[in-house]
Formats: sequence, C-alpha cells, structure tokens
Amino acid sequence: MQQLVFATNNKHKLEEVAAKLNGAIKLLSLDDIHCHDDIEETGKTFADNASIKSRHIYFKYHVNCFGDDSGLEVEALNNEPGIYSARYAGTHGNHQANIDKVLTGLKGKLNRKARFRTVISLMWEGKECFFEGTVNGIIRHELSGTDGFGYDPIFEPEGYNITFAEMGMDEKNAISHRGRAMEQLIAFLNNLD
Ligand code: IMP
Repeated sequence: MQQLVFATNNKHKLEEVAAKLNGAIKLLSLDDIHCHDDIEETGKTFADNASIKSRHIYFKYHVNCFGDDSGLEVEALNNEPGIYSARYAGTHGNHQANIDKVLTGLKGKLNRKARFRTVISLMWEGKECFFEGTVNGIIRHELSGTDGFGYDPIFEPEGYNITFAEMGMDEKNAISHRGRAMEQLIAFLNNLD
C-alpha cells in the first residue's frame, strides 16, 4: 500500500483527511515516522511555508508527503495577518490577542472584507503539486460563538449570518478554506493509477 505523510501532528486534521481517502493510501503523521524536527516556517507566502514542510519530509525521509499552511487575510489591513496569523499579536497561538489586534486595526474602517486561505504542497514521486482553498467573508465587530479556534468567533462566511464559531464542525468543514483545499488534494489522490 502507498504511504503518505501529512506533515502535521494535529489529530483532528489527520482524521479528517484519513476518513476521505479511498483506502489505497495509508496516511501517516510526523509522529508515525518519528520526525520531531522543528521545521521553521520561514517562507513569505502560504505556498512557501507549505512547501518547506513537504520538501523537508520528502527529501529527508524519502516518503510522499504533503504540508499545509493557512491564515486570515483582511482586505483593509493589507491582507494581514496572512502568514503571521498564528502569532499576529506576538505570542504563537494567543487567539484572543490576535483577534483584538484585528478588531483594533479595523476600528473606523468600513471595509470589513476578509478571507481565509489554505495552500497545500504535495510532494508525490519527486514532483510538487499545489492545492488551494479559500472562503470569503467579513470580520464582525464583536466575537460570537464558542466552537472552532483562532479567528472563528469574528469571521462570518459569505452567505451566512453566523460566525465560524457558531457552526458545527461538519458545516464549517464543508465550506472552509481547509476543507476546500483538502477536497482537491483528496480528489487528486483518489484518481491516481
Ligand atoms: P494553520 O496553518 O492551519 O496552523 O493556521 C495558522 C493560523 O491561522 C491559526 O493559528 C489561526 O490563527 C489561523 N487559522 C487558520 N485556519 C483557521 C480557521 O479555520 N479558523 C480560524 N483561524 C484559522
């Protein structure tokens, strides 16, 4: 059976992808291949960072691999926080501080348009392919909802009047940037000979 490493240890992300593969590919995490490297995301774009992860694993472990990178782009903030989404306010993963920084930056601005983006880099048999997913929406003035993570409580996807943090996981995955990028990756993998 073909093996494919997802350059993450996020169990939720792994399960989501594993459930959609048609059984011809065995999905492995970084832990599964005993990789505990601190792979630094030093790129300038989502694609760079996704590529740094997939290439690191492919060339070091000689196994097919993909990596992903995601973030929020707010139009009136020159597409910030972008690749700095996880550490926009300084500390990695301080979601409340990151949200506060976005809301402060948008004070007095009429344009509240934003989008989430995910880029996936797949290294398969020596070739690299990219897959991308986006979801457009607006930034609310206040937080709403308790589900999800990151900027979910302030992001209202287009066509809805609730935030990502008020949606069930399945509902969010069906329209999210990550869900859309993963769908493309899975379609590619399930159509390999
Ligand atoms: P990652 O590349 O998936 O680890 O995402 C990087 C950062 O972007 C996260 O730490 C969040 O701040 C933000 N982010 C990415 N996806 C989402 C999402 O679906 N909801 C809210 N925030 C997100």
